[in-house]
Amino acid sequence: MKSLSPSIPSSLRIFREKRITATIMALFAAGMSAALAQQAHVSYAQAVARARQIVAKMTLDEKIAQLHGIQDATDFRVVPGLPRLGIPALHMTNGPAGVGPGGAGPQKPATAMPAPVALAATWDPELARAYGKLEAEETRSLGSQLFEAPDVNIARVPQGGRVFESFGEDPYLDGRIAVADIEGIQSTGMLANVKHFVANNQESARHTVNEVIGERTLREIYMPAFEASIEEAHSASVMCAYPKVNGAYNCENAPLLTGVLKKEWGFDGFVISDWGATQSTVASALAGLDLEMPTGRFFDGKLKEAVESGRVPLATIDGMLVRRFAKEIEFGLFGPQPKPVPIPAFEHGSVAREIAEQGMVLLKNEGNLLPLDHATARTVALIGPYAVRPSTGGGGSSHVIPLYTITPDDGLYAAVDWQHMRLSVWDGSDVDAAVQAAKRAQVAIVMVGDQDTEGRDQSLKLPVAQNELIEAVAKANPKTVVVVKSGSAVLMPWIDSVSAVLEAWYPGEEDGRAVADVLTGKVNPSGKLPITFPRSVEDTLASNPEQYPGVNGEVHYSEGLDVGYRSYAAHHLAPLFPFGFGLSYTEFGFDALKVSKGPGAAGATVSFKVTNTGKRAGAEVAQVYLGFPSIAEGDEPPLQLKGFRKVMLKPGESKMVEVKLDARAFSYWSEKAHAWNVAQGEFHVMVGDSSANTPLQANLVIR
Ligand code: BGC
Repeated sequence: MKSLSPSIPSSLRIFREKRITATIMALFAAGMSAALAQQAHVSYAQAVARARQIVAKMTLDEKIAQLHGIQDATDFRVVPGLPRLGIPALHMTNGPAGVGPGGAGPQKPATAMPAPVALAATWDPELARAYGKLEAEETRSLGSQLFEAPDVNIARVPQGGRVFESFGEDPYLDGRIAVADIEGIQSTGMLANVKHFVANNQESARHTVNEVIGERTLREIYMPAFEASIEEAHSASVMCAYPKVNGAYNCENAPLLTGVLKKEWGFDGFVISDWGATQSTVASALAGLDLEMPTGRFFDGKLKEAVESGRVPLATIDGMLVRRFAKEIEFGLFGPQPKPVPIPAFEHGSVAREIAEQGMVLLKNEGNLLPLDHATARTVALIGPYAVRPSTGGGGSSHVIPLYTITPDDGLYAAVDWQHMRLSVWDGSDVDAAVQAAKRAQVAIVMVGDQDTEGRDQSLKLPVAQNELIEAVAKANPKTVVVVKSGSAVLMPWIDSVSAVLEAWYPGEEDGRAVADVLTGKVNPSGKLPITFPRSVEDTLASNPEQYPGVNGEVHYSEGLDVGYRSYAAHHLAPLFPFGFGLSYTEFGFDALKVSKGPGAAGATVSFKVTNTGKRAGAEVAQVYLGFPSIAEGDEPPLQLKGFRKVMLKPGESKMVEVKLDARAFSYWSEKAHAWNVAQGEFHVMVGDSSANTPLQANLVIR
């Protein structure tokens, strides 16, 4: 049995008492004014003019040196400066789950935030804004100017190794979280870097795979979050992805980089290659890649030769430089910099904690076993590998060295009133001992999890013998709570034998306290799944290898628009837990749906009432889905998320919610017109608390 001495410094305990939301608001206000001051000094047009003057003074060698990163004993993840012309070095740092340990030299710790998938599960753009802002402040504190985030790739398969870095399977939710996150990042004067453009949706063969994706599917599923990141949030930079799309590598894909991104969406920032994703010199330079990272394999001597031989016009490389310099000048990065402040570890930790709490999804709660109650849970056995070590994040480039960690057992120990409750802790390595402890306790809590990582797709099965551990404990004690700390959906073969399940994702460095706050009811869970949890692997695209993971180097996106819950609805398949689902310690009711036309010929306003019908304060995420009329070019999936609102309600309280849908909400991508077209006919409007439960329904004719 593990010793129970609490290891939380007393400074932290005092901090717990502070109003966290107030902290977030104050941090945000301070950042906004700094950002406004920054923006005030130079317009984009002025920045372009200044960038052009600088480029005009550069020699060809100097230009080439500014078009790729370097890596040496003292530095990497950097484009070196050119002091002669006042060009500063551009340091980049990894995201999106917190600030990565940086280039060469001592590895630097930062706040290990809850995984981005947990952020998406909050369905709260204001928390996404706070998330991005905090990370960008730490980017500055650790000496960088560009934060490699957010990752807005769609979770096409739950097996994806980077699903934990993403905002889930729905393009609309993805876009809403991404826009707020980028605005938060850039409010500090740091550069965001939305990635990976486009369709980096699996790790298997990511460097070489050719993805065959229809135009309409690309436009409706894989591009919208990028489009919103550019058009609404004005991301300063974009990272092009490893795979090929329809035969061309992303970083030399002219129709995508120049055609869609720069011309159609008006992207005025710069395109950076993912690390090692550049595959050519001339094709990449002509296609719209502006900067090769991490080093100059193609954009060094080879690019110089290509310019000298006339295969790449000088004007093209001047344009690449102007794009980057202008953005940096616009963001105030060419002048004196605000002094980085040391990371306020516990203040930032409290933001991480609140977001982790708001992202947790209560999946099952039979007999209201949760929250833990002094009367019915006087003795608790806390069991499992993830009960004794914090789940601070996934693996790969998003890895963060945490500033501190709160272990699950310490967090729970500190949250509970021990005069009334007793806790024993077991790591689960000795299954018999854990089972005996579960038998003796009134309630057993099993904490399980995984460690997904970039570079490798993953199994939906919980690793090692964690399923067996849960089965054994549940057999010994029917009042078993399972807390899952996973980066994506996992299979739950034991679901019927346990009483409660909480999906906590990777909660980050504040794991222990965040999970304890939800288990003890200090926080009422309000997270909703941003990805569908399947019943079996066969219900995912993995049942057809041509779709995933691919055959002979090719992946066919032949499911088209039927991704995630769209597919479950189209095939009348019941998932284990549907997209948008999540329980609360209270209950909510929906009524009084009104759908009216306008503003605009193809706009609509959806209004309805949400009521807290239970006995605790809590938040509900009201979700608005649309079903489309039949379309000659091919039908849309049965339902698609088009709006949502998170509403906080006291017991018995009701609020009217109004969601406005613009013309885009009613549009499909026409492959004939190569444009968005408003679908004509009768739409089905569905409102509810998940993609599988929409009690309010109405029809609306759009002509
Ligand atoms: C990027 C990642 C990328 C990785 C390769 C990083 O710097 O931000 O998204 O895939 O390099 O490990």
